[in-house]
Amino acid sequence: MRKSLVLLQLFFICPLIAFAQKENPAPVNQLVVIANNPGPLISKDIYGHFSEHLGRCIYGGIWVGTDSKIPNTYGIRNDVLFALREIKIPNLRWPGGCFADTYHWKDGIGPQANRASIVNTHWGGVTEDNSFGTHEFMKLTELVGCDAYINGNVGSGTVREMAEWVEYLTSDAESPMTRLRKVNGREEPWKVKYFAIGNENWGCGGNMTAEFYSGVMRQFSTYLNNYAGNMLYRVACGPYDYNYAWTETLMKDPDNSARFQGISIHYYSLVDGWNNKGSATLFGEREWFRTMSANLQMDEIIKGHKAIMDRYDPRKTKGLVVDEWGNWFNVEPGTNPGFLYQQNTLRDALTAAIHLNIFNKHADRVQVANLAQMVNVLQSVILTDDDKMVLTPTYHVFRMFRIHQGAKLLNTDLRCEDYQFGEGKIPAISASASVDTEAKVHISLANLNPNKEITLICPVIGDTFNNVTGEILTAGEMTAFNNFEKPEAVKPAPFKAYKLKDGILTVSMPPKSVVVLELKK
Ligand code: AHR
Repeated sequence: MRKSLVLLQLFFICPLIAFAQKENPAPVNQLVVIANNPGPLISKDIYGHFSEHLGRCIYGGIWVGTDSKIPNTYGIRNDVLFALREIKIPNLRWPGGCFADTYHWKDGIGPQANRASIVNTHWGGVTEDNSFGTHEFMKLTELVGCDAYINGNVGSGTVREMAEWVEYLTSDAESPMTRLRKVNGREEPWKVKYFAIGNENWGCGGNMTAEFYSGVMRQFSTYLNNYAGNMLYRVACGPYDYNYAWTETLMKDPDNSARFQGISIHYYSLVDGWNNKGSATLFGEREWFRTMSANLQMDEIIKGHKAIMDRYDPRKTKGLVVDEWGNWFNVEPGTNPGFLYQQNTLRDALTAAIHLNIFNKHADRVQVANLAQMVNVLQSVILTDDDKMVLTPTYHVFRMFRIHQGAKLLNTDLRCEDYQFGEGKIPAISASASVDTEAKVHISLANLNPNKEITLICPVIGDTFNNVTGEILTAGEMTAFNNFEKPEAVKPAPFKAYKLKDGILTVSMPPKSVVVLELKK
């Protein structure tokens, strides 16, 4: 019945658009939004973040210690805390990344003065004094109001060590681990939502083959118990980008796949490969175009892994966990190459919008995603320098898109012109739409073309809306960024370049912009 109504409406609207096309030979860019037939829930955890013991992410970026002159709560800087609350971060992954498979959690508990100092072998060879450990991380999640996503150590850890960590964190029984936790000042168990069984075990996490990891994962997982009503969502280490064989190996054996609820994938967007990542701020249209093209690959990658998962798990009981994504550029000149510190421009804002739209559209399978990384590392949402803090263009996109968290995906049909550069072309528009629990519809859009305003005709079918508001993020230059001297060079502004008439929304999107529209009755 609903379907036929939609078809009927399409029948009336398409001729209108065809007529417009005839009158105006310029390409008609059209996004049909079906507002009355919502699809799957967009997991709020698609909007997750990642904090590794890497460079100045934890130390300086989040943790300054209780004795710091920087205003803090239990050693966690207040400015960062408030900024994170504002974007409603749903989950935070920790302690790595590659660091996770070198991390021995017992080094990071107990009185801080007694904690072992170790060398962070992956990231700059710096001393890690373990002053930020399990209790500090769990306090951070409590203060932010997000769920914990802990990444266990498979590469250099033991089954016992991982099992005891879960027990220490979540058990309420009488046991050596819960006694230890209480001695360290925490009576009640915590809740831990996500727990990963290793990180990049095909590389820094032990250089394993898929078959070998599959068996190891099965062994480790056996001892990760659910205590005191805490139901762990176990994340098996998945592949990098297009390595479908790894996913197939994990999925095909039902005894293996019974041991995890989600499978991770990592994918970073690179301008010219790992040896030529380019500057985060000094770039031209070629690099802009190549970044957008690399970002769009995420859709292909997800489709490929989804197809394998659909074969073995047609009821979609297992999730895809994209727990590392983002742009990876060269470090800023003069900074430690092992710290991965990069600036963040309007280009990164477009990257965030493209990815979040892709994740929304794969809401049936993508359950979790984590931007790499949260503060001062790679495509951060926040940069700090001593007591100063700045919000990046990527931060603003996360704030604008937070309205999709926990909403239901709406079916959309996008027809749009290409953005052409040299021999290459990509679709000029990225889009997704959702309906929230208050029946408000949100449409998030990005115009990838840095040179051209695009008018998008947007028939909203199946429901009637009278009230539209919008917000836009753009800047004069594609290389615009926020720094400590000019923290608001790129910031969102109210958006008014739309018209709503007879259920058809017409939106004029400036070049290189991100727009979010809210439709109310
Ligand atoms: O995010 C930086 C690193 O990239 C992570 O430690 C690792 O998992 C990935 O290769």
